[in-house]
Amino acid sequence: MATLKEILKGKLSKEELASVRRGFDIVGDIAQIEIPPNIEKKEKIIADAIMKLHKNVKVVVKKIGPTSGEERVRPVKVIAGEKRTETIHVENGVRLKLDINKVYFSPRLGTEHLRVVNQIKKDEVVFDLFSGVGPYAIPAAKRAKKVVVIDINPHAIKYLKENAKLNKVEDKIEAYVGDCRKVVKKHRWKHRADRIIMNLPMHAWEFLDVAFYVAKPNAIVHCYFFLPEEELFKGAIKKIKDAEKKLRRKTRILRKRKCGQLAPRIWRVVVDFKIY
Ligand SMILES: C[S@@+](CC[C@H](N)C(=O)[O-])C[C@H]1O[C@@H](n2cnc3c(N)ncnc32)[C@H](O)[C@@H]1O
Repeated sequence: MATLKEILKGKLSKEELASVRRGFDIVGDIAQIEIPPNIEKKEKIIADAIMKLHKNVKVVVKKIGPTSGEERVRPVKVIAGEKRTETIHVENGVRLKLDINKVYFSPRLGTEHLRVVNQIKKDEVVFDLFSGVGPYAIPAAKRAKKVVVIDINPHAIKYLKENAKLNKVEDKIEAYVGDCRKVVKKHRWKHRADRIIMNLPMHAWEFLDVAFYVAKPNAIVHCYFFLPEEELFKGAIKKIKDAEKKLRRKTRILRKRKCGQLAPRIWRVVVDFKIY
């Protein structure tokens, strides 16, 4: 199969070709690409080439800003194909409907989602404190007794509820919009969770008190961090140990692993730990 750069030969100059990014993400039938400023005039040609190369891609969008805000959304603009940013992404046997301009979603985390979901046992109550559209929660609901999800972004919870129906797990999911600390305290969910998922790597550790509050004795937490290469994994473990002291409950680190890269020398890291 021809590569993107091969298709573009003759349509872009050598210098322009050198600026074309080799990799891009595909969410459902939407390809997300980065277009450096010097090749903006050629973006339509590049997008058409991607659609020629990937017949399943029906929309090409370009990233027009960084991932930002509490909702962690990265804005995009359609540059080719159908004029929409909503799609259905299939991951780990579940269908996830989402709008990439309204919610966070990364197709690169599929393996990590599955690693966590595969640990869930049928009698567990799982709390997903930063659920997004449900890449953990929906497959988790197929295995667990109950899954409680919270997200501050109302669009994420709207799609999550739709995804629960799409995947026929709505009877296992309880969904709430809001700041997870406020939601958990309001409902007084003390000692309710067997497993807690905290995928907000920018600052999930600031919510460790929430995880400790909902955790039953022996609950397992999956907490994500962004850490510079030189701090692996010390930075993450220190934050967990600090919370342990402050909140007066013992913890035991079960596993720590890198599960992606944010930027050169900055890693997405997960630490699995038990709260006694
Ligand atoms: C990095 S995304 C992860 C989403 C999902 N778990 C996934 O893997 O795709 C973090 C999510 O946390 C939500 N969020 C941020 N701050 C929050 C808070 N204080 N309480 C609840 N949700 C929050 C954002 O809206 C976003 O959907």
